[in-house]
Amino acid sequence: MKVLTVVGARPQFIKAAPVSAEFARRGIREVLVHTGQHYDHALSRCFFDELGISEPDENLAIGSGPHGEQTARMMIGLEGVITAQRPDWVLVYGDTNSTLAGALVASKAHVPLVHVEAGMRSFDRAMPEEINRVVTDHVSDLLLTSTIAATLQLAAEGIPNSRIRQVGDVMYDAALRFGERADAVSESVAALDLAADDYVLVTVHRAATTDDPVRLRAVVEGFVAVSDWKRVVWPLHPRTRRRLEDAGLLERVSRQVDVIPPCSYLDMIRLIRFSAVVATDSGGLQKESFFHRRPCVTLRTETEWVETVELGWNRLVAPDDSGAIAAAIQSADGVSGSEADPYGDGRASVAIADVLSQGL
Ligand code: UD1
Repeated sequence: MKVLTVVGARPQFIKAAPVSAEFARRGIREVLVHTGQHYDHALSRCFFDELGISEPDENLAIGSGPHGEQTARMMIGLEGVITAQRPDWVLVYGDTNSTLAGALVASKAHVPLVHVEAGMRSFDRAMPEEINRVVTDHVSDLLLTSTIAATLQLAAEGIPNSRIRQVGDVMYDAALRFGERADAVSESVAALDLAADDYVLVTVHRAATTDDPVRLRAVVEGFVAVSDWKRVVWPLHPRTRRRLEDAGLLERVSRQVDVIPPCSYLDMIRLIRFSAVVATDSGGLQKESFFHRRPCVTLRTETEWVETVELGWNRLVAPDDSGAIAAAIQSADGVSGSEADPYGDGRASVAIADVLSQGL
């Protein structure tokens, strides 16, 4: 069996790490294709090194661009690779433009397509990721879900049960596999000299937050307000850095907040595990906060990861009100939610290899 896996952006490297390791353990042949959507060392190479992912067989080096152009260039590259490789499966993860490009090319080339993390919905079509998820799910042959809510969602959208398997969440596999190793941090994080529970970890990268001047200013003012009572550590995505510079806010925030470069996976896990609160607009970080049992504030009005909210580990706050952001972060400090394992048992990668080995 030959599986052609498409990755391109930071969260996909994390998801691929445990699955590729399981494929290798079983002797399943994998062709790893990196679209090049993320290319900075801190967003790409560093994840391969840390997580022990093998060198991609192909790197399409597509880089950044407007959605249509970026996705179209990926499709052109992927069509060549998929046609040449003729894999038994094309596997895509999550909801990025790399996911969408892989899904469209595989389905039109009539190569069986498997989508890992299928069925997630925010019900907000203004998010590019929501379009990517919906389209990918509806052209996939096999839809592998992380949660019961995702499974039910796909059934509600008319996808036959025979194409859906609930395997659990591969990011939980990664958290269990690499979480312990995260006790050794890089020099740049060690230099912050952070004490456990003494800081709030914040991240912001979604266009919906960074590209809206009202929201960008509100999150900055919210974080600055938090810094009056607790340290705030902010690993900055390059897109967010540019927006802060353009808005003249970078200097202001840097005076009160520990602004650091984007973190490697292990540094991020370490920062989460010892934080008082995590505040983020990232989907992955909401889950990782839950895996490591830290309270999270999500800077959005909806989330795909509803279980984290239902269990009391996560709360939502509109990203356009600095006072509400600061208050939500302050009131999350010290909060614990209920215990449950909605994301499976940490063996999603084993289940994925099993399902693919069984075939359709
Ligand atoms: C993408 C995904 C998002 C995911 C995120 C993880 C889409 C639509 N979005 O968002 O779902 O949560 O990755 O990080 O696929 N840039 C660099 N260096 C890089 C990559 C990007 O400087 O290596 C800058 C460029 O200015 C680029 C901008 O970041 O235009 C956005 O990059 P892009 O990959 O389009 O989206 P992300 O915001 O990273």
